[in-house]
Amino acid sequence: MLTIGIDKISFYTANFYLDLKTLAQRNDIDHNKYYKGIGQEKMSIPAHDEDIVTMAANAASRIVDDGNRDKISSILFATETGIDQSKAAGIYVHKLLGVNANCRVVELKQACYSATAAIHMACALVAQDPNKQVLVLASDVARYDLDTPAEATQGSGAVAMLIAKDPKLVSIDSKVGNYTEDVMDFWRPNYRKTALVDGKFSTEMYLKAVEKCWVNFCAANPLRFVDFAKFCYHLPFSRMGEKAHLHLLELNQQSSAQLGEQFDESTIYNRQIGNSYSASLYIALASLLDNCPQDLSAKNIGLFSYGSGCVAEFFAVTVMPNYRQHLLTKEHQQMLDNRKLINFDEYINLLDHPDPQHGEQCIIPQSGSTGKFRLSEICDHKRGYTGS
Ligand code: HMG
Repeated sequence: MLTIGIDKISFYTANFYLDLKTLAQRNDIDHNKYYKGIGQEKMSIPAHDEDIVTMAANAASRIVDDGNRDKISSILFATETGIDQSKAAGIYVHKLLGVNANCRVVELKQACYSATAAIHMACALVAQDPNKQVLVLASDVARYDLDTPAEATQGSGAVAMLIAKDPKLVSIDSKVGNYTEDVMDFWRPNYRKTALVDGKFSTEMYLKAVEKCWVNFCAANPLRFVDFAKFCYHLPFSRMGEKAHLHLLELNQQSSAQLGEQFDESTIYNRQIGNSYSASLYIALASLLDNCPQDLSAKNIGLFSYGSGCVAEFFAVTVMPNYRQHLLTKEHQQMLDNRKLINFDEYINLLDHPDPQHGEQCIIPQSGSTGKFRLSEICDHKRGYTGS
């Protein structure tokens, strides 16, 4: 039987970050509300010349090369912070990375869930033509209104994954558990730049969806809780994943003492980035693979994907032998270490993005961002990117 899964994974995040101690000071509260209460330390804030395209291109540039540029049959771009209502953001990435012209490119949306749909679609495309590969990109900027409880859960990031046969990192199981329900826990109407959220209700829906997906997964898949070594969750903030895993442990009559060992390594990157919506679960997977001291070869990992609105899924991946040789751990850690700390005024300034509503020419000055690609102008309603 054909084995299909993630052959390569790379993530990228914006170059500037706000320490949540700064926000706590500003709000005159104990920073442990953020560091411990929601489990977040830093938020990545994009510069004016960084967006979902530059972050996705920067993530993908580490895994797209002359060896696979011509094999990529499709680019599936998952996002809920799209830059255009018509054109797929992936087309810019396709050009920036020089992917072959016979490749199809589309954009997918369902809040933070859409990268998971993209992954399963990619597996089906590879099954149809096993000599091809599919590039899955997920890239988002999480923005909420200032001075709201959600402000501390902003962030930004992108992940790029190559889906291929005989993958080097993890194989993906097709027997999944799904849950969908029409709820208004988090949404962003077209006329708003920041999301609206019913915060407490959204956390309740997340926990309900974990349970529903798990029950549905067990009906479809012979794997049981004890067959999993580790778990990764969509991480709007890392305490959310922790609460979800405690809920799963309880549902399966397991001791909560296993929590740290089964979950903690998956949160290391997200604690420093914040919510990256569609990319978050897969940055959690990269965090686990990069940071777990134990050899995970042949181990099953449970993944829980949640997108408000809501659509959720629990599925299993199995780690391949020698996976460690193919990770980008050093690059990921260097990128995080090299980011620049900003103060509160700089944070407010960065949130105030150029917005040429009438198509007037807008040259975006270099911001000190260090990625290979940057948004350089918006002119006649067209975005221009530079870099190679
Ligand atoms: P809040 O009102 O600030 O929360 O909002 P709180 O007052 O309940 O405090 C949070 C925790 O900090 C509590 O712990 C406090 O006790 C603790 P808990 O009761 O949860 O165990 N705390 C402290 N701990 C240590 N030291 C202290 C201290 N003070 C307090 N000194 C909320 C929290 C999550 C509601 C808010 O941040 C929010 O609205 N966030 C955005 C919504 C969100 O992320 N929802 C998650 C589920 S929905 C989802 O994941 C989808 C999403 O990614 C979007 C998509 O799908 O596209 C959001």
